[in-house]
Order: sequence, then C-alpha cells, then structure tokens
Amino acid sequence: MTRMRLHQHLTQAVVATITIGLAACNGGHSPSAAIQAHAANSIPASPELAAVYQRSCQACHARGTSDAPLTGHGEAWQPRLDKGMNVLVDNVVSGMGGMPPYGLCMDCNAEQFRQLIRFMATPAEAEGQ
Ligand code: HEC
Repeated sequence: MTRMRLHQHLTQAVVATITIGLAACNGGHSPSAAIQAHAANSIPASPELAAVYQRSCQACHARGTSDAPLTGHGEAWQPRLDKGMNVLVDNVVSGMGGMPPYGLCMDCNAEQFRQLIRFMATPAEAEGQ
C-alpha cells in the first residue's frame, strides 16, 4: 500500500516537472501562431530575392516545426544578429547544425545572404502583422 502511494506520488512529480518544462519552453521561445502564420506567408519584396528565398531558405525557415529560427521571429533572431552579420553569413556558407552549406543556395553571393538574413530577422510585428 505504502509503496503504491509512493509510486503514484513520484509519477505525479514527474508529470508536473514535464509540464513545467514544456510551459517554460512555450513561454520563452516558441513562436506565436501569428508569427508562424507570418513565416508561412512572407516572401522578400524583391522578386529576385523572393525566388532565391523560395527555392532555398523557405523550406526550413518558414516552418514552425523546424529547428531553424523562423522568419519574422525577432526573439529567435536577436541573439543570432548579436553575433554580427559577417559571422552569420560565414555560418550559412559553412553550414550550421541542421543547415546545409550555403543554406542550399550554392550560387548566392554574400550580399544576397545579407539581404535574406535581414528579411528573415525582421520581426513580424515590425511589418504591422
Ligand atoms: C535544410 C534546412 C535549412 C535551409 C534550407 C536553410 N537553413 Fe538556415 N538554418 C537552419 C537551421 C536548422 C538553423 C539553426 C542552426 C543552429 O542553430 O544550429 C539555421 C540557422 C540559420 C542562421 C543563423 C546562423 C547563426 O550563426 O546563428 C542563418 C543566418 C540562416 N540559417 C540563414 C539561412 C539562409 C540565408 C538560407 C537560404 C539561403 C537558409 N538559412 C537555408 C536550417 C536551414
């Protein structure tokens, strides 16, 4: 009897810990539904840049399910921007974590990467959405 109660207690404690963990995660880093919608629907204004974005970066950076910082999710991009634009461009070129080298845009130049990064890092709220 005592053992059973102890077991139940432990199970509750574990469930509580997991719940708190998930809540903390959502509060801090998960993009809101509005940001996810923004990411799913936004493309750069320039048609050339939009074409590059759509065939390379969008597959990962527009999906809420990916580990990639989401387009328009300012909170996710700020710590990355803090590293400086040159570091970010270098990391795209060499690849990083789940991102393949060049972010799959083999013919992009540094200026295009800078423009793509600025586009993706612009917070959704700043565009009035
Ligand atoms: C196959 C998926 C994928 C594609 C395609 C992709 N990315 Fe990424 N990107 C990621 C992931 C995942 C991360 C997070 C990597 C990490 O933090 O370990 C990331 C991170 C980044 C970062 C942050 C790097 C840093 O130093 O913090 C930049 C900038 C970036 N991507 C730009 C781009 C650009 C520009 C393109 C298109 C040319 C692109 N990505 C295409 C998956 C992708």
